[in-house]
Amino acid sequence: MSESRLIELKKISKVYSIETLETHALQNINLQINKGEFVSISGASGCGKSTLLSIIGLLDVASSGEYFLAGHDASSLDRDERARLRNKEIGFIFQSFNLISDLTVYENIELPLTYRTDLTDKEIKEIVLQSLETVDMISRKEHFPSQLSGGQQQRVAVARAIGGNPSMILADEPCGNLDSKNAESVMCLLEKLHAKGATICMVTHDPQSAKRADRSIELFDGQVVSDETTTERGSTETALT
Ligand SMILES: Nc1ncnc2c1ncn2[C@@H]1O[C@H](COP(=O)(O)OP(=O)(O)OP(=O)(O)O)[C@@H](O)[C@H]1O
Ligand SMILES: [Mg+2]
Repeated sequence: MSESRLIELKKISKVYSIETLETHALQNINLQINKGEFVSISGASGCGKSTLLSIIGLLDVASSGEYFLAGHDASSLDRDERARLRNKEIGFIFQSFNLISDLTVYENIELPLTYRTDLTDKEIKEIVLQSLETVDMISRKEHFPSQLSGGQQQRVAVARAIGGNPSMILADEPCGNLDSKNAESVMCLLEKLHAKGATICMVTHDPQSAKRADRSIELFDGQVVSDETTTERGSTETALT
């Protein structure tokens, strides 16, 4: 496997079964994502974007196929190993922010770090303050989520996602609930993180946001139907295999 390969999906399928209804959310997905790539994922509602992100982020498991994350075979990991890898290597940003309402901004960012056995209290404090600095929210650290605007809440969610210095950021419609100004500020943050070397997978329905990634993947009915790399000149080349 290539040294720079972070994600490798081989014939990944996901079937949800509820009573007699079977939904084939993902069908035979083959996908490789290298370290440092900024990938956008788009497609109609229900085509499997969030399902794909949950599998990549070890929040869910595929029904069949193989998934290697940084060379680890995801199916060989037990629950604790998956949780540890997820907490250390992956930062999540959701459309609905998902902050904990009775924790302050500071505590929301601190919480996932407290599960890290490799960090001291002092290091955790430094990371929280540094992350808040990055998203320009230090002045609101004692506020509760309900006391913040949507854009500010999403910036806190970005701070939480980047706190543990994950190798990968998974963002599911991170600008979906934001007006254009706040969406722009979150997109700029993602671009900055990418420039610093983070690998980013971003689900978006907005073609303008998708173009800012350096690779655009489109799903249709649980399958990859287009995979294009945006070159520096802004043109695209197809990378479907
Ligand atoms: N937990 C679940 N149980 C049963 N079916 C599910 C579950 N999660 C998703 N599905 C189904 O799987 C399919 C893919 O869902 P998914 O959430 O991945 O779509 P999506 O592309 O993210 O859509 P959207 O743009 O609306 O967020 C849908 O048909 C959905 O109804
Ligand atoms: Mg979704």
